[in-house]
Amino acid sequence: MAEENVNLKSETRSPFLVLGIESSCDETAASVVSNDFRILSNIVGSQFEHHQPYGGVVPELAARAHAETIDIIVSRAITEAGISFRDLNAVAATGGPGLIGGVLVGATFGKALALANQIPFLAVNHLEGHALTARLTDQLDFPYLLLLVSGGHSQILIVKDVGSYKLLGTTLDDAVGEAFDKVAKLLGIDMPGGPNLEKLALKGDPEKYRFPRPLLGRPDCNFSLSGLKTAVRYKINQLCNISSQDKADISASFQKAVCDVIVDRCANAIDKCQLDLSKSLSFVAAGGVAANKSIRTALQTLSYQKGIQFIAPPISLCTDNAAMIAWAGVERFNKGDFDGFDFLPKPRWPLDNS
Ligand code: KG4
Ligand code: ZN
Repeated sequence: MAEENVNLKSETRSPFLVLGIESSCDETAASVVSNDFRILSNIVGSQFEHHQPYGGVVPELAARAHAETIDIIVSRAITEAGISFRDLNAVAATGGPGLIGGVLVGATFGKALALANQIPFLAVNHLEGHALTARLTDQLDFPYLLLLVSGGHSQILIVKDVGSYKLLGTTLDDAVGEAFDKVAKLLGIDMPGGPNLEKLALKGDPEKYRFPRPLLGRPDCNFSLSGLKTAVRYKINQLCNISSQDKADISASFQKAVCDVIVDRCANAIDKCQLDLSKSLSFVAAGGVAANKSIRTALQTLSYQKGIQFIAPPISLCTDNAAMIAWAGVERFNKGDFDGFDFLPKPRWPLDNS
């Protein structure tokens, strides 16, 4: 909290505008969002061509690419929003978790902008950006149940309030997005692995290979995916000369196994909420993997069977973007919960505080 740095521009607080900056992995993104649920601009610059030759994100290259493009991306977000920097009421930047070089670039740029314009700075937890997106898109009330599945995290949480989370389950090894990316790499699928594997799976038979469903049927809400990944590796080795149809069948069968595991874990979480809280919570899927259509459909069906509302944000707001960071900034602004310019980026920053 650094109120001495803050000019609340109280005369313009309704509506107010927050610039969001995202730079925690391989997307440099900036967005202007208003507190009345409008996304005025949403620019995402991909670093895809920097990392593709290496088959994965190279942290040092990512940090450099963020530094090279962040000013251009932010300027575009301001221009496309049809505003000037003077119209902003706050700057929110991802403060972690993520690749520290990239987070440093975005957070430092955000602090400088806030300082120059004498407006508050908010360091946003990237996971909280994903977690609160459904409130921007669907004006959802607290509390709700959340499946957060991305490249680095797989968690099931109860979102109680801004900054207030109860963890019900997490991954014991690989995150779901990480498993998609690793299996894509094993199959020689180009980056970005997850979305390209999903495309290939459309041409495959999901019943062709019966891969293991780790932890299926267990009463908790945790995930474990490394055994599934290893089973895919064995199958690829066993097939030797793998045809393009084999690749499609393996992709479809892997994706089906992941869907079954996710549905089983989420069913437990829904039941647990109904039992513990004696009421049904709306169910939200967020994070990059929530862009996967098979997973969305499976969760929609599960929610229908359980008689609860299901919300998955539009695909462009599931994968990394800065509108979610700006919106989390709006939520924190509403609480007067600002950060000082002495905020230090955090490579690790757990969401839950239960
Ligand atoms: O949330 P996100 O954009 O970045 C992180 O915070 O990690 O999630 C990226 C992850 C990657 O592992 C990517 O392969 C996966 O989400 N992903 C997908 C799909 N789109 C992105 N996985 C499966 N199917 C997709 N359509
Ligand atoms: Zn993310």
